[in-house]
Amino acid sequence: MCGIVGYVGSRPVTPLLLDALEKLEYRGYDSAGIAFMADNGIIIHKTRGRIADLRKIVDAATDDDDCTVGIGHTRWATHGEPSDVNSHPHLSRSKRVAVVHNGIIENYIELRHHLEAHGYVFSTETDSEVVSELIDYCYTGGDPVAAVRKAEQQLKGSYALGILFSDFPDQIIALRKDSPLIIGVGEGENFIASDIPAILKHTRSVFRLGERELAILTRKRVTVLDTFGNRVEHPIEHIDWDATAAEKGGYSHFMIKEIFEQPDAIAKTLAPRIKEDMSIDLGFKSITDDDLRGIDSIKITACGSAYHVGVVAKHFLKRILRIPVEAELASEFRYDDPIIDEHTLVIIVSQSGETLDTLYALREAKAHGARVVSIVNVVASSIANESEEVLYTWAGPEIAVATTKAYSTQLALIELFGLYMARVRGMLPEEEIISSIKALQNVPEGVQKLLDDVKSVQYIASLYFNCQDVFFIGRNMDYALSLEASLKLKEISYIHSEAYAAGELKHGTISLIEDGTLVIALCVYRPLLEKMLSNIKEVKARGAKVIAIINDDDVQTGTIADHIIRIPECTDITVPLMTIVPLQLFAYYIASLKGCDIDKPRNLAKSVTVE
Ligand code: AGP
Repeated sequence: MCGIVGYVGSRPVTPLLLDALEKLEYRGYDSAGIAFMADNGIIIHKTRGRIADLRKIVDAATDDDDCTVGIGHTRWATHGEPSDVNSHPHLSRSKRVAVVHNGIIENYIELRHHLEAHGYVFSTETDSEVVSELIDYCYTGGDPVAAVRKAEQQLKGSYALGILFSDFPDQIIALRKDSPLIIGVGEGENFIASDIPAILKHTRSVFRLGERELAILTRKRVTVLDTFGNRVEHPIEHIDWDATAAEKGGYSHFMIKEIFEQPDAIAKTLAPRIKEDMSIDLGFKSITDDDLRGIDSIKITACGSAYHVGVVAKHFLKRILRIPVEAELASEFRYDDPIIDEHTLVIIVSQSGETLDTLYALREAKAHGARVVSIVNVVASSIANESEEVLYTWAGPEIAVATTKAYSTQLALIELFGLYMARVRGMLPEEEIISSIKALQNVPEGVQKLLDDVKSVQYIASLYFNCQDVFFIGRNMDYALSLEASLKLKEISYIHSEAYAAGELKHGTISLIEDGTLVIALCVYRPLLEKMLSNIKEVKARGAKVIAIINDDDVQTGTIADHIIRIPECTDITVPLMTIVPLQLFAYYIASLKGCDIDKPRNLAKSVTVE
């Protein structure tokens, strides 16, 4: 996820773009840049680093006098590491077309090869540079709209684009598909932005550009065209948010915003890797299919929620690959003299890519000759750079300390990786693999259904937000999920909670269950539902209040639990991705009712770079 802005008006454009970008840094902050129209053509200033670094460069320059048209970008790297040259805007070699882009072009490599065959030369690793050169290639002079539309016909993927043409210094062209783009309407000036906070200081009159609509912005007007070239009129929306609320897109906290971003984050992480023929493209450069066939055991190592992803994935991978799969805490793994060798696949999971315990575990794995694949959300982070292969989750920046969308995208990606391995190792019938891939592709829709109706979770949270102790219990996959559910509640509400294997309770811990103790029983893993019913009766007999997370078609559990939360029909592969959503919401609503500092809980940091 990146942030793009644009301005056409009569005020100095560079300070305006810089201020606007600062309001979008939550969308990405590894590099930034601006492009503006000057008498001698399009000028670009861009750099690795934060907006503050860019501001120093722009302030030191003296080339922006009287410039009043420009575009800007703050980057969250997906293709190409954070660097000066990979940052946006990208100016075509002809210097005729400058582009800022938010999204992922899935076919950029094919397009790049096509353009190279026509004499184009590229200087970055990004998909966005291909967009600028493609538009230039399609631009024969005189009709920028036709050039943009012609280029768009060849693009696959998601994009929100801000485009400058040097031949048309008094306009900006904007185009979007899948990625958001706001049009801000002012007096004698107009704006584009990825999100409202960027322009709220200048105008509260906005509209959202529609899917595959193209906008031409001049000082006087905004013209919107649909894909057929017909004019489109959008009603103006008046924004009454304050600036702080606007940064969270109107949500109260980044955490709840990121919970609601999960459908989009999962879709953006999976879509580019699943081809129309149901093949899976992991983009591996070092580990071959033969290497994967030679793997005789898997270790997944990480910390915190990323470790919980590993515990869930362990069950799934063991079932489909039939080789030993272990999930180990990174802080333990590296001191445990692990039994690994070149036939061991070590999967490292990390949102930040900087967690020191996990980085040291990675080095330990490499020192033992293991093959290392990392699942990481930050491009070119330390863990990514030291891994043999990296699978990036394209969840965008995760601001809340308590992870949600990164956890979900890690889980989706490790399951897709498991299906890839099952296919190359001939472990499953092809039709089962395809149906599992399709089930993964439907997860965003299923998660959205859960997010569309949060009332029951909100109600249950309102009954229990003052509780002192909570037990999450489950078996197999449900136990693995309860680990994450418990951590979510603990870290943002400060309520003591514990995840416990339901079958283990009776071996001691059940002594803590007393009248009114809250127990959350995860009962979605169908093969062990009967056992879970017995465990619920056990704790009920000792006075517990039980909230049960159950399958849509479960007609038994509701007869003994105090409350139920239903999960829509899902398969083994989608159970974890669906079940975690109400549990994230439960933790959030409890913490919200307690008035906790949800995005920045006490004692915690977003990235733990100490041992
Ligand atoms: C998750 O909500 C926590 N913030 C924490 O457990 C986190 O998952 C852990 O520190 C690992 O971080 P990483 O994914 O960036 O490596």
